[in-house]
Amino acid sequence: MDRLRDDEPRAPADFTLARDPWALFSAWMTEATAAEPEDANAMALATADANGLPDVRMVLLKGADPHGLVFYTNVESAKGEQLARNPQAAVVFHWKSLRRQIRARGPIVPVTPEEADAYFASRHRDSRIGAIASRQSRPLADRPTLMAEVAELSARYEDGPIPRPENWTGFRIAPVQMEFWQNGDFRLHDRVRFTRDGAGWSRARLYP
Ligand SMILES: Cc1cc2nc3c(=O)[nH]c(=O)nc-3n(C[C@H](O)[C@H](O)[C@H](O)COP(=O)(O)O)c2cc1C
Repeated sequence: MDRLRDDEPRAPADFTLARDPWALFSAWMTEATAAEPEDANAMALATADANGLPDVRMVLLKGADPHGLVFYTNVESAKGEQLARNPQAAVVFHWKSLRRQIRARGPIVPVTPEEADAYFASRHRDSRIGAIASRQSRPLADRPTLMAEVAELSARYEDGPIPRPENWTGFRIAPVQMEFWQNGDFRLHDRVRFTRDGAGWSRARLYP
């Protein structure tokens, strides 16, 4: 494992020599956004339930910086309840056209109410109505039931402001590990894993 020093190259051609995982994350996300036809920011989010049984589903990344990876959801959903008990998670991105994967894992903290309000306000009106209408992950009798609730909420809020529901907010995963994977010929892939090391990171190249 390499402890990273300041005299290492900032943007080496070989990504396994990168010294800043966030700069590498940002570069790969920019390339994915250009290359992927849909939802380059989609990531599989893994959590564990009270029995330790893993669960996984896709969510959209809505913020990424050295503080962490942000997604938004309903806190009363299955994932929300799992995160309330065990506020740790792992995510993986896979970009098929680039043949790349990024994994990250670490503790999770809710975003501030102000951050959640700002993101909620930026969403399309119908998405805001949908977020209020959806009792995410709980049983729904049929689709007309949901659509009737959407219609009722649309009428209630008409053209007025739509408040962010208390059960809808964002979470930030603060990675303690980030791993970058690039497909190589004959399964000889390149992998580099960064592990939190004090205020910085340690880096290790891994066998594929
Ligand atoms: C591409 C894609 C993106 C999604 N983005 C989100 C999201 O950002 N937030 C969310 O709550 N659900 C999102 N979903 C739905 C989740 O995968 C999941 O069905 C829902 O959150 C309920 O999960 P849970 O029962 O494990 O809590 C997305 C699904 C797909 C396929």
